[in-house]
Parts: sequence; C-alpha cells; structure tokens
Amino acid sequence: MPFPEPGLPARVRIHEVGPRDGLQNEKAVVPTEVKAEFVRRLAGAGLRTVETTSFVHPKWVPQLADAEKLVPLLDGMDGLAGVRLPVLVPNDRGLDRALGLGVREVAVFASATESFAKANLNRTVEESLAMFRPVVIRAVEHGLRVRGYVSMCFGDPWEGPVPVEQVVAVCRRLVEMGCDELSLGDTIGVATPGHVGALLTALTDGGVPVGRLAVHFHDTYGQALANTLAALRHGVGVVDASAGGLGGCPYARSATGNLATEDLVWMLDGLGIETGVDLGRLTATSAWMADQLGRPSPSRTVRALSHKE
Ligand code: HMG
Ligand code: MG
Repeated sequence: MPFPEPGLPARVRIHEVGPRDGLQNEKAVVPTEVKAEFVRRLAGAGLRTVETTSFVHPKWVPQLADAEKLVPLLDGMDGLAGVRLPVLVPNDRGLDRALGLGVREVAVFASATESFAKANLNRTVEESLAMFRPVVIRAVEHGLRVRGYVSMCFGDPWEGPVPVEQVVAVCRRLVEMGCDELSLGDTIGVATPGHVGALLTALTDGGVPVGRLAVHFHDTYGQALANTLAALRHGVGVVDASAGGLGGCPYARSATGNLATEDLVWMLDGLGIETGVDLGRLTATSAWMADQLGRPSPSRTVRALSHKE
C-alpha cells in the first residue's frame, strides 16, 4: 500500500539510460540485436523514454560504435510506437549521422568542469559550448527535442567539489541555446541531499525553471535515492535511471552505475507516484540483461525480487 508524501509530484517521467549510459561502460561489446531487444523489453515494461545510443566518435566509445545499425533496427520495431528514443550527439558530425537515420530527439553533453570537458570532449568548457551551439540550433530547426546534460554538477574526480555558480552558468548557456530540458549529472555519485537542494535553489534563483530540470544520479556512495527524493521535494519531475543499475562513464574515474531504475520504481511505487512502469517486467528485463553480460545486477531491488522467485 502506498504512503504518499504531500508536496511530491503525482507522476514522474523516468528517462531510462541503460542502453546508452549502461552499456557504454561495459567491457564486453553487446551484440546490436541484444541491444535492440533490451530497448524493446524496457519499453514493454512501461518505460516511455529510452536513451538508446550515442553518435560519438567510435574510437572514443567503441561499445556504441554500432549506432548506425541499432537505430534502423529499432525503427518500426513492435512495441516502440510512441516511445521516445533519444540519442547523444556531441557535434555537427554526430547530428548529421542522427538526422540521416530519422532520429527525433537528441542530447548534447556539457561539463561544469574544465577537467572533465577536456577528458570527455577534448575541449575546454567554452569550446565545447561553442561546439554544441550550432548543433542545438540546427536540431531545434529540424523540430527535434534537445536535452542538455551537464556533467560533474556536484564533484569532479580531478577538481573536487564543484561550486554551484559554475553549474548554474553552464545550465543557463544551454537553456539560452535552446535546450528544452537539462539533466544535472552527478557523474561520480558524490552528491548528498543538501547539496542537491542547494543546487536546485541556485538554479531556480538563477532563472532556470525547475520544470525544465531532470536529475541524473550515479550511485557510487549509495546516495542516489536520497538525492532523488531531495530533488522531488524541490519540484523536479524527471529522473534518469538505468535498468539494473548498469553504467558509468569511461572518461570519469570512479564513476559507477547509475541509480537503478528498479530501486527508483520501488521508492516511487511506495510513495504512490505514478511512473507507468511494471516492476516485475522491468526486473525480469534486467535479470535477462545481466545474463547476457555474464554478471549479476548491482541493483538491490533486482536482487531482492529475483531471490523471491
Ligand atoms: P576529437 O578527437 O576532438 O574530434 O573528439 P575532432 O573534432 O578533432 O575530429 C577528429 C576526427 O573524428 C575527424 O575525423 C572527425 O570527422 C571525427 P578525420 O577527419 O580525422 O577522419 N569525428 C567523428 N566521427 C564520428 N562521429 C562523430 C565525430 N566527431 C568527430 N560524432 C569528440 C571530439 C567530441 C568527437 C570526442 O571527444 C567524443 O566522441 N567524445 C565522446 C565521449 C563520450 O561519449 N562520453 C560518454 C558520454 S557523456 C556521459 O556519459 C555523462 C552523462 O551520462 C551524464 C553524467 O553522468 O554526468 C551524459
Ligand atoms: Mg551518466
């Protein structure tokens, strides 16, 4: 029986990142057909937004080098009608590749810190924003939805704690460019709930409406759910998560898996917050994916529910 908490949203949209953020960090390269089946099963479990892949340089992320094969496989696949399937694009070349395949939704990915901008994009923060600007403008002209990620919003493995003003400045630039949603990335999972509240307050004070914000927590220190609850209490209604807790970033030391979608759904179900996700089908999907990868899911909820069977 749910126990709602007054003031929380009635509904949360889960932005599933397992096929992209999850699989980009796996040592094994997963066959394209298995990736497509993963996306199909995630949609079958009720997820309405599934980030599928990245049109980045194939040498930088070899795990996702099959984007040109995956997107056409998903096109017209049973069960994917009406499901949003965003992809990452870092630059014009990436956008050209995505547009050529009829992709309808893209994300650029900025960094709040110089060190990570350099490691992940081979650019300074300013140079990377200059790289994104024509991408966002052109994507909007094509009628695409454009998300802007901001990585290292709380701490950075090279620079330590990240001042909120630095994050607000990058977020404002992405909104000015035309991003319709921003996802605040705790890439290495160091955030704590008070810090989340402080950043969200600074962002709304700085003119970034909370309705445009999503949160993207990695669970390195076991704080992802607590941080999510803090964000919901501040009015955030979009939460990124990765089925089975897969994930990380190959260019950020100490980044582990994302918040597991199952752990998130368990909490939201308990709060009576609607997500449209069937936890049983989702858990079965992650157990199936864990078999494909040959290792158990790090999600506590997946493990608990699997042991019950
Ligand atoms: P670069 O080496 O500076 O690229 O990399 P360049 O612009 O100098 O171009 C070099 C060559 O790459 C050229 O080819 C380009 O055409 C080619 P050449 O003329 O030498 O033959 N090239 C491309 N090829 C295919 N697709 C492309 C592309 N772009 C250039 N899109 C670049 C710059 C941005 C490309 C590179 O740094 C890159 O691909 N980085 C991606 C890194 C990445 O994907 N990281 C993981 C995602 S971010 C993340 O996980 C965090 C997140 O989850 C949120 C969070 O947790 O915080 C989102
Ligand atoms: Mg991430």
